[in-house]
Amino acid sequence: MIIDTDTASDDAVALAMALNHPDVDVVAMTTVAGNCPLEDTTRNALYTAELCGSAVPVYAGADRPLLVKAREATWFHGMDGLGDQGYPPPSRSAEEEDGVSALINHIRGNPGSTLVTLGPLTNVALALAQAPDIVGLVGRCVVMGGTANKVGNVTPAAEFNLWFDPHAARMVFASGLPIEMVGWEICRFEAGLDAAEQVALRALDTPLAHFFLDCNSTAMEAAHRQSGTRRLELPDPTAMAVAIDKGRVVTRSSRHYVEVEAESPLTRGMSVVDSLNVTGNPVNVEVVNAIDNDLFKQMVFDAAGG
Ligand code: RIB
Ligand code: CA
Repeated sequence: MIIDTDTASDDAVALAMALNHPDVDVVAMTTVAGNCPLEDTTRNALYTAELCGSAVPVYAGADRPLLVKAREATWFHGMDGLGDQGYPPPSRSAEEEDGVSALINHIRGNPGSTLVTLGPLTNVALALAQAPDIVGLVGRCVVMGGTANKVGNVTPAAEFNLWFDPHAARMVFASGLPIEMVGWEICRFEAGLDAAEQVALRALDTPLAHFFLDCNSTAMEAAHRQSGTRRLELPDPTAMAVAIDKGRVVTRSSRHYVEVEAESPLTRGMSVVDSLNVTGNPVNVEVVNAIDNDLFKQMVFDAAGG
């Protein structure tokens, strides 16, 4: 597995799910600007790997979107991206190699691997532009991003990862990569941990259980202000559960033509899903329509050491 991430609150839980799973071999993690600036997403990825006792190489990638101005989400995740808990700096640094060339090299070196994207798609778009051959080498490309004809979380039309760098998202969705799209609508409501589940997670009383809840504390408050929820909604872990155990986690999916809007001020970053095949365009995405929420949550608990 290769993970591309804008490591902040929910990304950190997703990274731990992969790093702590006995059946997953994470060969590389590449970081990208998104939730917070690249320096912070890279530090957060290194810190999370350290908490998991992992020496997985981390490579810093793009520090800004392809064309639009970077507009991070520190308002949601905290200034440091991990809920401003005052965590210590990681004991190791990122690798010298930049994230884009690392993506290319690790994809070429691990044909058939699963690429999981948890942030804006800038690194993946740049890798595709430099090395179009990687399209045929990626086994699965699981994308946390977009919404399938549902409301967005950063504008009425768009989800943050696709909105942050809409041109990169448009390129990736049109690239031919075997995309499995886990939209924000899948990660909400019953997929979020309710109060009792949050208490049960805390009661595991493991360092990661506390980390999962504490680093998401700012995000939970922001989510409550944004949508009124008191659940702990975890978009990236939801996508990671699909990547790790698709056969049991995904209960319904469908294949459609999906295109990302990159120019319109109103709908920039919108994932336009042709659910009724009215365009007649060739299918390019498997859209996840429903998951087993209980199984997903059990995977989060397992990662916490439950
Ligand atoms: O819209 C949710 C996505 O945006 C998640 O990946 C979250 O970490 C943020 O990057
Ligand atoms: Ca993310």
